[in-house]
Amino acid sequence: MVQKLKTSPLTSQPANLLEAFVQNCGTDDELFNSENFQVVFQDLLLTSSDTSSSFLESLILYLTAFPEVQEQIYQEILNVAPNGRVINFEDRKRMPYTQAFILETHRNARNAQNFAPRRALWDFVYKNYKIKKGTVILSDTRLHCENKQIWRDPEVFRPEQFIGEHGEIVNVPSVISFSFGKRNCPGELHANIVTFLVLTALLQRYKISNPVGQPTPRLDMKAGLTLKPYPFQVVFEKRN
Ligand code: HEM
Repeated sequence: MVQKLKTSPLTSQPANLLEAFVQNCGTDDELFNSENFQVVFQDLLLTSSDTSSSFLESLILYLTAFPEVQEQIYQEILNVAPNGRVINFEDRKRMPYTQAFILETHRNARNAQNFAPRRALWDFVYKNYKIKKGTVILSDTRLHCENKQIWRDPEVFRPEQFIGEHGEIVNVPSVISFSFGKRNCPGELHANIVTFLVLTALLQRYKISNPVGQPTPRLDMKAGLTLKPYPFQVVFEKRN
């Protein structure tokens, strides 16, 4: 495949990062070499897999724990696609509750609990703390996601707090799960598209519930590279 890409004309528009990288091989050996090739794609794999799977598990956890929330999303699905057609990313504009559910899941699950460490480039003072040049700085997103000045009742799972008076989506900048600034997550749009399509395709076909007789799964998260739900069981019941 690499051989085929290498011989594809440089003038053709690359369809993806792999094509762009291979097409540029030979233009600057310091940048476009096999070591950097491996690092770039290894980085993407590492940063995208655990974050995305933890987030999808969290979506299923909250759908199971809050059946009334799941029902509201399903009603939106029926509303935009009454004939069961495939839902596309454009449909999200008519599905505010579904979007709000995704945002509230980001806030509650806090899967990427700590951003990448930073290093102070010079001495500075922050809130009476003297930070020396070279100090490694770690963030803790919990302080933000559970801040009562930003969220009225942070301990409650409430997608509605992302829906404004006229049904518009609000408070989006307050969700920091993809970080912000120069090193924010470059996969944010990709993750948002995949999340929306997977969530709606799942709920269009299945009702997800807690197995009868089992306690509701715990909602606190297990620490690891990312925060993820503790193991839990669910029933997928095919919808007609
Ligand atoms: C729900 C899914 C995801 C979440 C919550 C998430 C979250 C984050 C966070 C918080 C960071 C650290 C940013 C910082 O330190 O300021 C990050 C970095 C990164 N993410 Fe994601 N991410 C997700 C999915 C993805 C996907 C799908 C990709 C690639 C296709 C990706 C690629 C990256 C890369 C390459 C970095 C490193 C950026 C850098 O260091 O400059 N992420 N992500």
